Amino acid sequence: MDKQLLEKNARELVSPGRGILAADESNGTMSNRLEAVGIKPSPEARRAYRANLFSTEGYESAISGVILFDETIRQSMDNGKPITQELSERGVLPGIKVDTGAKELANHEGEKITEGLDGLRERCTEYFALGARFAKWRAVIRIGDGIPSSACLYTNAHALARYSAICQEQGLVPIIEPEVLMDGDHDATVCFDVTSSILAATFTECEEQGVHIPGALLKPNMIIAGKDCEDQVSREEVARMTVECLTKNVPHALPGIVFLSGGQSDEDATAHLNLMNKMGVEHPWQLSYSYGRALQADALRKWSENAEDSDISSCSAFLHRAKMNSLARSGDWSEDLEG
Ligand code: 13P
Repeated sequence: MDKQLLEKNARELVSPGRGILAADESNGTMSNRLEAVGIKPSPEARRAYRANLFSTEGYESAISGVILFDETIRQSMDNGKPITQELSERGVLPGIKVDTGAKELANHEGEKITEGLDGLRERCTEYFALGARFAKWRAVIRIGDGIPSSACLYTNAHALARYSAICQEQGLVPIIEPEVLMDGDHDATVCFDVTSSILAATFTECEEQGVHIPGALLKPNMIIAGKDCEDQVSREEVARMTVECLTKNVPHALPGIVFLSGGQSDEDATAHLNLMNKMGVEHPWQLSYSYGRALQADALRKWSENAEDSDISSCSAFLHRAKMNSLARSGDWSEDLEG
């Protein structure tokens, strides 16, 4: 394991004022998102939309890395330049989603286990050769009646650690993503407890399996009440509870925490991160973003309105959100900057 390389790239991904763009929607998910805005999905439609995003002028000041899907890492910009080369030339690290999706967990109705360990070593070798320097694996934890079970928490934690160890062996910084979903009517304290359980289990497994924590990043959910819960908490309370949960469960040696947006509104995702970075306490880790929807939703809408290969309005929408989140890295965002 090249610990120096892993630590350098992990720190680079959470360097000041910058965060990650998650553009690694699977072909199925990306096709659904394109269809939802009236665009016929195809490999070329997915390529053209994303190539346009990656051609945005100046986003590299706010984006340190982009997570790609297997299809995209092999695709090119409109001028034929490989997408990985376009990103690298801008000083943006290419990343790759390496799990193969969350599948039904046997004997546990309604719960999922993320798959993709078979052949992972060989795939990581290839992705490194293609230019990737970090990876992502997403575990999905649902809150409901009697769930999550300890089997769901343990098996997902075990798989996250196995993935992390293989990635590090192959020179890729693992982004460890145990996502507790916002679906349901549970309140924020239940989210806090379940998130604590999966984080504790994950870091126990990582230690057991020799994962090098200074060469990894965590991608968690924030502590939020379920979408259908009547008792929603304030932005300040989300920030406070999230930091408390992380402080209790995340090793200080981890260089950074890059949140997912998970269905929050664009502005909520930015405001919550801003408040956490504004607390006036020194957190042991960098607190940053690895947003998918909260960086792209508006850009995709704008793209669908024009659907031309080069669409400046989609680029502007993406750049705006990237800049807003960049400001939230230092607690310097405010609502009036949203225009
Ligand atoms: P969202 O920010 O849309 O949740 O996407 C982040 C991600 O990569 C989920 O795996």
